[in-house]
Amino acid sequence: MSLFQSLLIFLSFVAIKDVSPYYTDNYFVDKINDLRRTYAKKYNVPNMHRLMWSEDLVNILDRLDWSVAWPEARITWRYTALKFYETSQIETDVIDFLKKTPEEKSKTIKTDAKSSMKGMELFNPLQRFIGCYPKREGNSSFPVCLVGTEGSFTMFDTTGQSTGIPGSECHKRYKNEGGLCVPNNEDEESYYGHLEDIIESVNQIREDYSREFNVPNMHQLVRDIFSTARNNFFQIWSDDLLKNLQNMNRDNGFKGACVTWRYVHIDTSNKGSIKKELSSTFFEKSDVEKRSFVSINSHKTLESLEFLNPLQKFIACSRNSNTRFICLLGTEGKFTMFDYSHKSSETPGSNCHKRYRNDSGICVAIKPEEESYFGRQSDFMSDINEIRRRYAKEYRVSNMHALTWSNELAEVLDPLDTTGVRAKAKETWRYGALNTYDNTIYHIKADVTRFFEMNRTAKNDHIVKTLSDKDTMDRLEFLNPLQKTIACGRKEEEGVTYIICLLGPEGNFTIFDTSFQSQLAAGSKCHKGYYNEDGLCIMQIPTQVPIIDYRKMAEEERNKALTEEPEPEPILENHGNEISLGYLLVFLLAKLFFNI
Ligand SMILES: *[C@@H]1O[C@H](CO)[C@@H](O)[C@H](O)[C@H]1NC(C)=O
Ligand SMILES: *[C@@H]1O[C@H](CO)[C@@H](O)[C@H](O)[C@H]1NC(C)=O
Ligand SMILES: *[C@@H]1O[C@H](CO)[C@@H](O)[C@H](O)[C@H]1NC(C)=O
Ligand SMILES: *[C@@H]1O[C@H](CO)[C@@H](O)[C@H](O)[C@H]1NC(C)=O
Repeated sequence: MSLFQSLLIFLSFVAIKDVSPYYTDNYFVDKINDLRRTYAKKYNVPNMHRLMWSEDLVNILDRLDWSVAWPEARITWRYTALKFYETSQIETDVIDFLKKTPEEKSKTIKTDAKSSMKGMELFNPLQRFIGCYPKREGNSSFPVCLVGTEGSFTMFDTTGQSTGIPGSECHKRYKNEGGLCVPNNEDEESYYGHLEDIIESVNQIREDYSREFNVPNMHQLVRDIFSTARNNFFQIWSDDLLKNLQNMNRDNGFKGACVTWRYVHIDTSNKGSIKKELSSTFFEKSDVEKRSFVSINSHKTLESLEFLNPLQKFIACSRNSNTRFICLLGTEGKFTMFDYSHKSSETPGSNCHKRYRNDSGICVAIKPEEESYFGRQSDFMSDINEIRRRYAKEYRVSNMHALTWSNELAEVLDPLDTTGVRAKAKETWRYGALNTYDNTIYHIKADVTRFFEMNRTAKNDHIVKTLSDKDTMDRLEFLNPLQKTIACGRKEEEGVTYIICLLGPEGNFTIFDTSFQSQLAAGSKCHKGYYNEDGLCIMQIPTQVPIIDYRKMAEEERNKALTEEPEPEPILENHGNEISLGYLLVFLLAKLFFNI
């Protein structure tokens, strides 16, 4: 007789007690846990876990229809139907089971574990979560309980021969408490998994795929330092969107996405399940389907495939009650996929980002404590000057100055909020905003390219309009050739943290001639106190006199060369000069340091 039939018969004889729809009374679960502890001690079960009430399981159960089959069962949860929220029936079930001979026991498991082991489901030592909810059959209702996260039925050693120590083989993050395994921190454990487990699984998967597909640049994902971005995101997400998650246009919720981070939903920390999802959504598809999947979804989320973007380095996950985990991955806003054709002959871990090294085929940070989603200010400084030099050369900007970090500007910025920045700007400094210090070159370039592609009229219109609308030309501020100093800091606005940079000393906006009409040489009109270094005006470092003399000489040489043959300006940079100047500097520095 099936469970269902027996229940029907049972129901026809017994008047069913009314069960409250939201049964969260601990009493019932406590009694089950008492029973679990009793049997753990009696049978020396080393891994009997305390069952924790799970609203996630309740929600799953709530959506299920009792009158149809549940193919979802027995993957990450199992179920049992009860008569009441009482343990007497469960106790009877376990006593009956234990009375059986070993042959009868295995026969029962073999036949019933395919559906439900009735009360015995509550004695599976590995289950850690329970959620019960009434199901309706005709006019009566009865409680059904789901237990997770195990999909298969496991029974402890019922022979009485076990010599295990109760509570000695607990799940990680669980400890022995009187023979039962209990979580160290109940708040962090959930049916949907633990953050740590998700990240661990995802990193293992990244490592597996890196080796399987010979990915040269797969980076390990690191948690935590991403927290500011995470807070920004989850604040927006939870406050504005959670309320009507059902009805909302999903994409609105992620409008900050795809710039310096991307996102993915996940409801399991199980490596196998994540891999299964990757196979079914991507790897098992045809090449055409794969390509179209990526092109259709890359502006929002490619779901689990996001976990395989080799260039991501940071991860943050969070969940609100009733929803799956959402993980943010940074600092890439653009989706990148490795070569999955199985034709790559690269060596895993051979193309790590700087400050990352190969460890078992995956790139790990050499000094993780120095890496963060917001990036490093020192990288930013060299990036920002690199992009200024690049534009100076491309557009022959004669007066593009290198930016140096200014503690004075930093002091100005420090006490200001974004409103303050706006109010005080445009006198001796202007400001621009960035999302992170990371990938500055890429982001500035992406933002200014549209401007550079406009015709002269459109450019002027754009400048006039933007300046009348607001106080900043956004990323173009970083290309103002006359600015010489910079200082940046994190500022929050409407729950989102940006990097706000003050740039001085110019209070007016200037952009170089972007029409390709310039006949000047990059770095040929540096302000006083600056010298040309490969197209960029660099501040002279006040050092000993001979060095300045040499520099002046080099500069004069250069200027002389320029005046002697003013046209045509060489298209290619004069590497000869650059190298000799470089050697000169190295020589002088060596002289300075080693006294040779
Ligand atoms: C179920 O309840 C309805 C109304 O409460 C009643 O009319 C009906 O007879 C009941 N059915 C059974 C099988 O008890
Ligand atoms: C990275 O480590 C893996 C495993 O240790 C090794 O097979 C691979 O050759 C290494 N890659 C490089 C570039 O050294
Ligand atoms: C410049 O671009 C704008 C907008 O793209 C266009 O409307 C305008 O006709 C262009 N002007 C010239 C002179 O090409
Ligand atoms: C900005 O430009 C205006 C004229 O366009 C000039 O009067 C003003 O002095 C300039 N301000 C600064 C700070 O250079």
